Amino acid sequence: MTVDDPLVQRLLQAAQAAREQAYAPYSRFRVGAALLDEQGRVHAGCNVENAAYPQGVCAEAGALSALVLAGGRRLQAALVLGDSSPGGTPCTPCGGCRQKLREFAGDDLPVWVADAGGLRLRTTLGELLPHGFGPDHLKDLA
Ligand code: THU
Repeated sequence: MTVDDPLVQRLLQAAQAAREQAYAPYSRFRVGAALLDEQGRVHAGCNVENAAYPQGVCAEAGALSALVLAGGRRLQAALVLGDSSPGGTPCTPCGGCRQKLREFAGDDLPVWVADAGGLRLRTTLGELLPHGFGPDHLKDLA
């Protein structure tokens, strides 16, 4: 999937719209995520923070919940949109979200990272979570 693929633009638009809905009164760091499932459907999510800070939920987790609720079980692509750091480092998925994505995708999952200015990085889940642990590790257990 290349940058010119209309699917990437669809994911970008969905993540932008989701980010508008972010509830981030504590960090003021708004994030949107969009996931493409095995049927070509797009599911989006935004971060939802909580006064009890550790109870906040990342945008990727919200998008995954929407995907699973809709019957999706496999990811074709993921896109995350949040502010890049002042030094220009894009908002890559946090460690916990890398693991959550791994449940429904392998190393080859394309992960796009964007900020308000557009796409900043194309990487893969394997690059973000090398030597990751996943459901395949458990498949032969009784
Ligand atoms: N956040 C996400 O939603 N996704 C990420 O991958 C990085 C961090 C959220 C969590 C919290 O609401 C805010 O960004 C600041 O950490």
